[in-house]
Amino acid sequence: LSSSDLIYPIFLIEGKNKKQTIKSMPGVYRYSIDQLGMIINKVIKHKIPMVALFPSTPNNKKDKFGSESLNENNLVCKAIKFIKKRFKNNIGIMTDVALDPYTIHGHDGILKNDYVINDESVDVLIKQALIQAQMGCDVIAPSDMMDGRVGKIRKYLDKNKYHDAQILSYAVKYASNFYGPFRDAVGSKKSLKSDKKSYQMDFANSNESLREVALDIKEGADMVMVKPGLPYLDIIQKIKERFKIPVLAYQVSGEYSLIKNGINNGFINDEAIIESLMSFKRAGASAIVSYFALDIAKKLNFN
Ligand code: PBG
Repeated sequence: LSSSDLIYPIFLIEGKNKKQTIKSMPGVYRYSIDQLGMIINKVIKHKIPMVALFPSTPNNKKDKFGSESLNENNLVCKAIKFIKKRFKNNIGIMTDVALDPYTIHGHDGILKNDYVINDESVDVLIKQALIQAQMGCDVIAPSDMMDGRVGKIRKYLDKNKYHDAQILSYAVKYASNFYGPFRDAVGSKKSLKSDKKSYQMDFANSNESLREVALDIKEGADMVMVKPGLPYLDIIQKIKERFKIPVLAYQVSGEYSLIKNGINNGFINDEAIIESLMSFKRAGASAIVSYFALDIAKKLNFN
């Protein structure tokens, strides 16, 4: 395990000079854009190759259609521009393609009669992906779980000459109970009506994950993500063995909070962090998105 295996997620908020605590994720903060220079400096110093950006959008900018996702001056776009201007290609950026930070109902797509409608959602998502690429994002990461979106995003990016933007598909994303703190962090928790089971995967299913990955590879995904992490090591291993494509693991917010609270309470030794990250490597993950990334990179590089 080395710091080059890690991807560091960063939550963004509007305003200046802000570092906001997140109750459900002790030790993780929301930062205003002017704070990013300081954080990215640390990330680079500790040899982490990429950050993942997640916006916490103010409620007055949310609507039924997630229109703010297509605003070239939204929080994520501003952050990409800031980071690329200042750090060029010394740091990679990945951003989510999904509407949940921007919709009043907290779903990843557009609703009709309380159901997310696939194709109409994809029509918006391809535009969101292109805007992120235009801002300078390196890795476009659709996490919405609509069917067919990887192919349509690839086509749309290519048509607009963004051949080099890579696609990291959240191919296997389970409708999980471990996302709670994240939804709190981006402010979609209170607004989320019902659940995401009509588009995210049933956690009882294993073979479906292989079908999802096969489709996404065919549609042009460069890498695939399995999410959450620790409860799904079997899935990471299966995909890696079958497809030999880079498989990334996402140690999600609920996993982070469980371990972190255990450590803070003194019941769990902090070596548990390394143990959990090592398990992803053992299973075959090529990289790991983790809220522990910066702390652990410091430790790994010190030893
Ligand atoms: C939404 C999204 C989620 C996460 C990343 N992107 C949550 C969800 O599907 O509701 C979860 C990440 C985490 O829990 O750390 N597109």
